[in-house]
Amino acid sequence: MESVLKIINLEKTYKEEQAFLQKAKKPHLVLKNINLEINKGEIVSLAGESGCGKTTLANCILKLITPEKGEILFRGENILEYNKAQTFEYRKKIQMVFQNPYSSLNPKMKIYDTLAEPLIIHKEKNREDKIREIIEMVGISEDALKKYPHEFSGGQRQRIAIARALILKPEIIVADEPVSALDVSICAQIINLLLELREKLNLTILFISHDLNLIRYLSDKIAIMNNGEIVEYKDTESLFNNPENDYTKLLLSSIRTIKTG
Ligand SMILES: Nc1ncnc2c1ncn2[C@@H]1O[C@H](COP(=O)(O)OP(=O)(O)OP(=O)(O)O)[C@@H](O)[C@H]1O
Ligand SMILES: [Mg+2]
Repeated sequence: MESVLKIINLEKTYKEEQAFLQKAKKPHLVLKNINLEINKGEIVSLAGESGCGKTTLANCILKLITPEKGEILFRGENILEYNKAQTFEYRKKIQMVFQNPYSSLNPKMKIYDTLAEPLIIHKEKNREDKIREIIEMVGISEDALKKYPHEFSGGQRQRIAIARALILKPEIIVADEPVSALDVSICAQIINLLLELREKLNLTILFISHDLNLIRYLSDKIAIMNNGEIVEYKDTESLFNNPENDYTKLLLSSIRTIKTG
């Protein structure tokens, strides 16, 4: 097993905004001693209730925010020590898919230009070929390239957002609730697309979701987060069949009740 991403003792604090003439609030420890290792080609899901720190962890991995303590190793190199040029290269290797595709698709840009933009920024050659290859791979026809985001359905827009995330041939995709805004049948199509792309491109995926049934279907491993900590991290089936942590048990029992109740 080849380790692609390894997080060691990560800590992130948010200093809460101080209103005028108010006493300073205590800094809020949002990530506490996070340890997580992800191997090449794996789909690892992060689950846990709203506010437990999933997006904060994703943002640290993407280098959008800086943690105070710990290390994030990408292929053995600490990304927190990267200089500007190394960070620029790292941004090619790791890409994000959001819940709302509108946050990665500019409504004023034609799909072609949306897909060309990262290639231009990174001075890539053969742009047109790469764009045609990727749009086909996500199951969208080529005439889409001349259109604007509003001309597509939610599911199609998410496919296009995935195409944009993949255009630089990243190694890792971080998908933060990528299907929670979609209808169930569309959601299933997008999930199956992600699985297919993982096979084709040997992608490593960090998937964030509240939907435990979906996570079970999709993931090789699951990390359960509670209040800024990873309380349990293991293979999907052993997590569901043999949860050891009390919080994991509570979380799993909640879906069982919903299913039978
Ligand atoms: N920019 C910020 N400034 C201050 N506090 C923040 C900021 N962003 C997040 N937080 C706080 O950090 C904690 C973790 O937030 P985060 O967004 O990581 O949770 P999450 O697990 O992604 O939740 P959700 O499932 O709702 O998306 C929350 O208490 C949140 O209020
Ligand atoms: Mg979040």
